[in-house]
Amino acid sequence: MTQFLVIGGAGYIGSHMVKHLLEHGHQVVVLDDLSSGHADALIGGELIVHDFADRAFLDELFSSRRFDGVFHFASQILVGESVTNPAKYYRANTFATLTLLEAMRDHNLGPFVFSSTAAVYGEPVLIPIDEAHPKVPVNPYGASKYMVEQMLADFDRAHGLKYIALRYFNAAGADPQARMGEQHEPETHLIPLALQAVLGTRPPLKLFGQDYDTPDGTCLRDYIHVDDLASAHLLAMQHLQAGGKSGAFNLGNGAGYSVKEVIDVAAKVTGKPVPVEYAPRRDGDPARLVADATLAKSMLGWNPKYNDLETIIQHAWNWELKKNS
Ligand code: UFG
Repeated sequence: MTQFLVIGGAGYIGSHMVKHLLEHGHQVVVLDDLSSGHADALIGGELIVHDFADRAFLDELFSSRRFDGVFHFASQILVGESVTNPAKYYRANTFATLTLLEAMRDHNLGPFVFSSTAAVYGEPVLIPIDEAHPKVPVNPYGASKYMVEQMLADFDRAHGLKYIALRYFNAAGADPQARMGEQHEPETHLIPLALQAVLGTRPPLKLFGQDYDTPDGTCLRDYIHVDDLASAHLLAMQHLQAGGKSGAFNLGNGAGYSVKEVIDVAAKVTGKPVPVEYAPRRDGDPARLVADATLAKSMLGWNPKYNDLETIIQHAWNWELKKNS
């Protein structure tokens, strides 16, 4: 029986990963300090509540327990905050992960699957974005993740640490049975904010910018179901366990939906109009972010199950209703 360590496993994407691993017969140990995660998002596994960057703690954990691989989801994720408080991002995302990698190196532990982001690419120069696209992050959040990718490549060369970095586009949706879903505080993401505006638990959605160079003037994003992200992680781990090469892969559906389209589909799913206020552009939002995820499909055998926006938003809506019940 394989046992995996899932760091940040009580968070949005991590908790769907834990579910996926358990459903595939794996044992799971979650390491999460619950600073933003939720213990009740876990449907099983063992939860250890601790800071993953505590080296003495990691030495004790890695000496006393056996793990067949490590998934690392724990991170700070607010792009805007990363601009005003970059140290928080370099410390939590880059420096803390270096401590983890050193402990893994010293205990000969691997393989490693890392949550990266489309933010490593910065402002797109070509759409769809493939993995060879220039990596020029335009904010400390993206830079803090890209630095980890570079450290991983160096650790692989120097110490043989096998890794895959998965560059998520817009993670969205929730468990189809609504056992877990998105619950960030503060929430900044479009879909939960639109749905909560419908419920009246948030103010009307501010639509940021209608003068972009896109068909309807609002930004295009590539929404990918959180369960499809989870399945890609397990395939990435299995690829490494089978002797596959380290690398980085995009995870997206390859389709761009505009903010207006998301609002229309949210209205259809909920049966109510989304209260909207028109607002100026938000700093740092590129007009289009669409993935070319061909490589993950061909190299990992990844086959996303949920490629239509309505299903993604339906699952997110079921979760919002469940949270409020
Ligand atoms: N939007 C609004 N109003 C809101 C929130 C969002 O109009 O209240 C718009 C944004 O301007 C953007 C789109 O909805 O055009 C999607 O915004 P999100 O905040 O949901 O997601 P982002 O595309 O900004 O961010 C995602 C990830 C980040 C990552 C980034 C770039 O959440 O972690 O993609 O890869 F850095």
